[in-house]
Amino acid sequence: MTQGNRGPANPKPDTGKDYSKYFDFSDAKIVKEENGKTTYRIKGRDITINAMPSYKDEKKRGKEEIRVHYENAVPEELRTLGRGKKYLIYTYGCQMNEHDTEVMRGLFEEMGFAPTTERTEADVILLNTCAVRENAEDKVFGELGHLKSLKLEKPELILGVCGCMSQEAAVVGRIMQKHAYVDLIFGTHNIHRLPHLLQEAYFGKEMVVEVWSKEGDIIENLPKKREGLRAWVNIMYGCDKFCTYCIVPYTRGKERSRLPEDVIAEVRELARQGFKEITLLGQNVNAYGKDFTDRNYRFADLMDDIRKIDIPRVRFTTSHPRDFDDRLIEVLAKGGNLVEHIHLPVQSGSSEILKRMSRKYSREHFLDLVRRIREAIPNVVLTTDIIVGFPGETEEQFEETLSLVREVKFASAFTFIYSPREGTPAAEMEDNVPYEVKQKRLERLNALIAELSLESNLQLKGQTVEVLVEGVSKNNPNVLSGRTRSNKLIHFEGPQEWIGQFVKVKVTAPQTWYIRGEAADVPVQAALSHGA
Ligand code: 5AD
Ligand code: SF4
Repeated sequence: MTQGNRGPANPKPDTGKDYSKYFDFSDAKIVKEENGKTTYRIKGRDITINAMPSYKDEKKRGKEEIRVHYENAVPEELRTLGRGKKYLIYTYGCQMNEHDTEVMRGLFEEMGFAPTTERTEADVILLNTCAVRENAEDKVFGELGHLKSLKLEKPELILGVCGCMSQEAAVVGRIMQKHAYVDLIFGTHNIHRLPHLLQEAYFGKEMVVEVWSKEGDIIENLPKKREGLRAWVNIMYGCDKFCTYCIVPYTRGKERSRLPEDVIAEVRELARQGFKEITLLGQNVNAYGKDFTDRNYRFADLMDDIRKIDIPRVRFTTSHPRDFDDRLIEVLAKGGNLVEHIHLPVQSGSSEILKRMSRKYSREHFLDLVRRIREAIPNVVLTTDIIVGFPGETEEQFEETLSLVREVKFASAFTFIYSPREGTPAAEMEDNVPYEVKQKRLERLNALIAELSLESNLQLKGQTVEVLVEGVSKNNPNVLSGRTRSNKLIHFEGPQEWIGQFVKVKVTAPQTWYIRGEAADVPVQAALSHGA
């Protein structure tokens, strides 16, 4: 099976940072050492460490070949572990985490657990966490604080922390020291081990920690519990870009692509089940296939093959501008189920900042890429991610971001204030920009994005667009809400039977963040019929 950093626990961090307050294990006693696992007693709590995260190992990029495993992750003897019990997962962060949650839901249900949304009814609660910015981490520690009283009232509750934060040694140390009522910590490479880890947590009294630092092989055939009309499909794991501000290459490991035949089989199955839209997922989908040693097959080839599958809409996220090649543009221009929306994170409009971010493209390269995309796909809608207040960003450099945004006319953007992440190169860079200045920059950028979003929506006025109806509006049950091919949110009146169908809608009143319209026709597809 997969291997990882499973040696004896080494609670000392490798970062050279002062994590000492969470790594003072002077009062820790070794209770037991067995099969490479060590049980410590720390402040009266026994903690069994199968594997601790190590920053040094997470940074490494080995040349080992990635193997693919197809065996079942839930062995026969664990299929009744959850009988009569309920689980609840709170998910933070990106689509990759949402998809990991779908996998964990699949695993829970194969173990016989039932889902619940009521925390007081749950027998297991997992927090699937995000480490990309500090405020995401603060939310998780806040939630852990709230859950403490529940755990005290109901000691048999299993409380677990997984996802990107578990890959950080400092976080694991802090939970072990300050939130010792947590029962289980496991990492992003250990998801398929959930059934075994739950069993350990149930039958032992100790906190169980298993976080592999080195990514393992690719595990296929994991169950996934998907809901709704849209499905995520992972095409690759990890990231090798090492942008200087980003923690993802450490928490998610090296780039590993799923085999095209496995991706295509999954998409075909989703089409058969009646899903209307899929989103191909990867931290940098444009690097898809670079790691194959036995074939020359890249993201453009995958898109060209998926284009031929009978699923109405295909999206992908996230793209890195550096690897976005002409062959991909050519394939996307074929249209069909490949929609006219590209999310293309630019991060900054200043070549100097881009260089310090190690994005490996310049402002000019980005603008040229946009020009080539627009030439091939004239009605394309572009959205982006932007970081303001990168260490040392000057007013002029920020204004270059504003001017690039204006020039490209992004239809919308996710915008963030730079958040230093322990262990990343940018966290070591000198930063002389006061936080209030960064906040002001964010406000200025957001005002521009709002202006451009309205402008982009106004262009649709009077046009008829195809809408996938996703549900009813929160405020009015007679109003339906859905998305255009270009991912714009649209509200219009119609019966609830249209949910899950494609409707032609005439745009009547574009707003800044959504569009109002009127149904121009009855649905173009038969009722939804998927049983996932
Ligand atoms: N600070 C702020 N934003 C970040 N992102 C990634 N790392 C950081 C950080 N340290 C943003 C980038 C990325 C998005 C998912 O999150 O814009 O594209
Ligand atoms: Fe982070 Fe850069 Fe990789 Fe995106 S491409 S996940 S920003 S390192």
